This record gives sequence, structure tokens and C-alpha cells, in this order.
Amino acid sequence: MKDTTTSFLSNNINEALSYIFLVFLLMSIIVILFFYFSRKKIIQKEIEKKNLEINHQKELLRSVILTQEAERKRIAQDLHDDISSKLNVVSLNTHLLKTPNLSDDELQDITNNITDLTQKALENSRRIAHDLLPPVLEKFGLHAGIEELVVEFNSSKVVNVIYKNDLMFDIADIDKHLHVFRILQELLNNSVRHGKATEISIAFKSIDNQNTCIYSDNGIGFDSNSDSAQKGLGMKNIESRINFLNGTFSLNSSLNNGVKINFTF
Ligand SMILES: Nc1ncnc2c1ncn2[C@@H]1O[C@H](COP(=O)(O)OP(=O)(O)OP(=O)(O)O)[C@@H](O)[C@H]1O
Ligand SMILES: [Mg+2]
Repeated sequence: MKDTTTSFLSNNINEALSYIFLVFLLMSIIVILFFYFSRKKIIQKEIEKKNLEINHQKELLRSVILTQEAERKRIAQDLHDDISSKLNVVSLNTHLLKTPNLSDDELQDITNNITDLTQKALENSRRIAHDLLPPVLEKFGLHAGIEELVVEFNSSKVVNVIYKNDLMFDIADIDKHLHVFRILQELLNNSVRHGKATEISIAFKSIDNQNTCIYSDNGIGFDSNSDSAQKGLGMKNIESRINFLNGTFSLNSSLNNGVKINFTF
């Protein structure tokens, strides 16, 4: 009798233990599956984020290449139209000088032509070089370069640009400063071209030990997420230049509220 009771009890315990083991096994499987799927989801999200970043970088690179090509085309056109064509005529005129029995008047005409055209070719080559790298920037640094840019914009009388600078720029950092200069050139062009701004402010300050540029205009503003704002190359180039400078960029604008931009470099 005692044996049957013991065996019954032991059977029950075994059964209970089996159930507990099964429940634990099931729970462990559920927990493992849960972690597996949530981890998979996290990794998938990370991959998606990385893909977005890569696509964005690709887009930036594309705009840099497109701008470079456009710039090359413009320089080629400038060289062709403003230099080569003039030197061509200079060359024709110099050959004319070899013509025998030229009268004094003819000689005068030809030499005047040559002086005139070489003078123009010289001026044009200076303008092309100036566009590529403003000499004032190279000789006197960013501050003087921006002052000159501001004077050029203000001379149009369409817009009043106010420029303040609390920073000291080291001429050795000219490569970096050329990026800052090009960013401001693009921002000013956009404010006048798209924003129809009449007042623009540029201020350089040190904020939290960071060289910061605070830029604003009183133009019509825009929605930076709109399709039309995504089409241009200017803002994308600004972003790549900011990347080169290891800086940050923030833009605040809405329709009819002008544009406010802060960037660090
Ligand atoms: N200061 C501004 N005021 C109003 N709209 C602006 C301003 N800056 C940019 N935008 C808007 O953002 C768009 C994108 O500017 P972005 O400089 O990238 O291109 P773009 O000026 O149209 O062409 P690109 O610079 O390539 O010649 C502009 O077309 C314009 O609609
Ligand atoms: Mg632009």
C-alpha cells in the first residue's frame, strides 16, 4: 500500500516537473524569439538609417560634381568668349602688320586695335581669376573679402547689407575661409534673387568657443522642405562646405518671415 502511494506521489511530482519544465521551455523560447525579432527590427531600422545617410551623402556628392561641371563650363565659356576670341583678333592684326606698304593711318588703326584688344583680354583674365579666387581674400583674409562682397552688394542700392565681425581670422586658414566666403556669397545671392530681401545682416561671433556666423534677411522666406527648395544646388553645396568645415548649420524660415541661418566653422 505504502509503495503504491509513493509511486503515485513520485509520478505526480514527475508530471508536475515535466509541466514546469515545458512551461519554462516555452517561456524561454518566447523570450528568445522576442529578443531575436526586436533585435532584428532594431538592426533593420539602423540599416535603413544608414542607407538614408548614404543616399544623402551621395546626393551631396552629386551636387558638388554638378556644380564643379557647371563652373568648368562657365570658365571654359569665359575663356573662349572673352580671352581666346580677343587674342585671335590680336593675332590677325599682328599678321596684318607684316603687309607691305601700309599707310601711316592703317598702321595706326592696326596698332590701336591690338592695344585695345590686349587691354580687354587682360581685364577679362583678371575678372575670371578674381571670380575663381578673389585676390582680396588671398591677400587680406576673410574679413576684408566679406567687406568687399558687402560693398559690391550695397552698391546695387537694391539691398542694404550690414556686416559685423567679432572674430580674428588667421590668414593661414585661407582654405577654410574660402568655404565660408562661398557660403556667404550663395546666401546673399539667394536672399536677393529668391527672397527679394532689402535688409540683410551678417554677424560673426564666438558662441561657446565656436566661430559662428549669424545670417538673416527680411525677404519673402521659404519652406525648406518644399520640393522647389530641394531642386537647387546652392543649399546642397553649402551643406557639403559645412561638412568640410566640420561645422553645423541651422536654417529657420517660413513664407513671409525672411530667413535666419546660423552656421559654425
Ligand atoms: N533667402 C531665401 N529667400 C527665399 N527663398 C530662398 C532663399 N534661399 C533659398 N530659397 C529657396 O530655396 C531654393 C533652393 O535654393 P538653392 O540655392 O539650393 O537653389 P537655387 O538658388 O534655386 O539654384 P542654384 O543655387 O543652384 O543656382 C530656391 O530656389 C528658393 O526657392
Ligand atoms: Mg542658390
